Amino acid sequence: MTMTASQDHHVNGAAADSLRKNAHNEPSATLHRAEELEDLLVAVRELIIPFIRAADEEAVRKESGDIVTESGGASRNVLVDCHAPAQLAAKMQLVLPDEGQGKQGLLQLIQNILQYSVNTWDQGFLDKLYSSNTPAHVYQVSPALTIVEKTTSKALANLCGFTGPFAGGVTCQGGSASNLTSLVVARNTLYPDCKSSGTRNHDFAVFTSAHGHYSVEKAAMITGMGASCVVGVPTDDEGRMKPEALRELVVRAKEEGKTPLYVNCTAGTTVMGSFDPFEDISGICKEFGMWMHIDASWGGPVIFSRNQKWKMKGSHLADSLTINPHKMMNAPVTCSFLLGPDMQVFNRANSTSAGYLFHGSDDGDVWDMADLTLQCGRRADSLKVALAWLYYGADGFERQIDHAFAMASRLAQLVKETGKFTVLSSDPPPCLQVCFYYAPEGRIDEDADKNTRRTKAIVQKLINRGFMTDYAPGDNGYFLRVVVNIQTLPGTIDGLVKALVAAGEETT
Ligand SMILES: Cc1ncc(COP(=O)(O)O)c(C=O)c1O
Repeated sequence: MTMTASQDHHVNGAAADSLRKNAHNEPSATLHRAEELEDLLVAVRELIIPFIRAADEEAVRKESGDIVTESGGASRNVLVDCHAPAQLAAKMQLVLPDEGQGKQGLLQLIQNILQYSVNTWDQGFLDKLYSSNTPAHVYQVSPALTIVEKTTSKALANLCGFTGPFAGGVTCQGGSASNLTSLVVARNTLYPDCKSSGTRNHDFAVFTSAHGHYSVEKAAMITGMGASCVVGVPTDDEGRMKPEALRELVVRAKEEGKTPLYVNCTAGTTVMGSFDPFEDISGICKEFGMWMHIDASWGGPVIFSRNQKWKMKGSHLADSLTINPHKMMNAPVTCSFLLGPDMQVFNRANSTSAGYLFHGSDDGDVWDMADLTLQCGRRADSLKVALAWLYYGADGFERQIDHAFAMASRLAQLVKETGKFTVLSSDPPPCLQVCFYYAPEGRIDEDADKNTRRTKAIVQKLINRGFMTDYAPGDNGYFLRVVVNIQTLPGTIDGLVKALVAAGEETT
């Protein structure tokens, strides 16, 4: 974010989506995020405070038992301007644009949401068990935010290739929660008896690559299948699941009397940033009747980039997909979506008969978003992406993501050029992590303990120089892992490389 308070919205829209360029057409070293944030906070505050004040001023009028007609005949229900879902969608006209609309677009959506939300600050709000909070669980209490969630998740689902009439998604409390939800949906869909009987009639096997995120194991623990049902599938040199190894392990599981249930593929693994081969994995899932999930928590946002989206090839074949805008896209934590080709499937898998809360809809669509999830009360996390989408536009997201990938390539290149490190990431790196060993002798030392000691010492020394990085275990002991992001400046990369060389020289 680079705009200043004095710029008009058109300038804001253009400037907000990329880092300012210097004479060499590179982002300048100057950031203006504080001014930009202050400007937006003041403007948003000016919309929210009158919304609450209206409820305060209405309080005394509640005693009349009716809406009080103003002089001149006008009357307004402060509690809500009520509309059925389809009518409200038409009124709000929320379109997530390619071109960013900057501050004006952002404020327009907030205004729209306030206009069509239930004012839960109003004395007349005596509905749910949330005082004056707004839970995004049923349409009745969060109509505008439900439109935002449906619109945003459908747009993301479409970008992932889920284009059918019931394609969409829901937000969950993070990538781990989205992955957990996907396992529950898979199990209850493929083996519906589990909904009431649990897993006692089945001995399930769940597959994920050796580089997959630990949340898959946790999900197996939580669902009562047990962590031991998770089978780690070997990866190739670049950390991608080997489809032929997956097939062999599935066959073996069946021979052992197990029921192959679910394959978790990863788009952007946590350590190396690899993308699994989705098309090949899909073929194996279809052959054995397994659910295919893609954990695109980290790498999924490449769908916005024409240069990078080939990495998601085959994503449309998945039965569910996690994407976390709170990672690569810098949406505020938490912001994670579980997407899929058919939300009716999510609904059937997760719905219980809680008639006190879920009253159904007239149009057959599911508008009570909690009924697609494992939750009851929920945060309206989709709003974070919707606001950013209006502000930066899909084109702005693309520029930000392309910039971040360029920074990862630059880092890998410069680290290599020092001659002091051996880069493990492929060239260019598959995602925004760059992984490397300190190898001043020109090759990775065979002594894994020595590598680990050196890595940890360098990471510590970097902190003293103002750079926080991390390390991860590898075949030759721990290696350094640096993660760049959409805001990383070229100068930061250059400085980090100098610091790495200096820290290495101080390390025995
Ligand atoms: C590939 C992958 N999946 C899932 C997660 C978990 O996401 P969250 O931290 O939002 O629960 C992570 C976290 O880094 C991850 O890298």
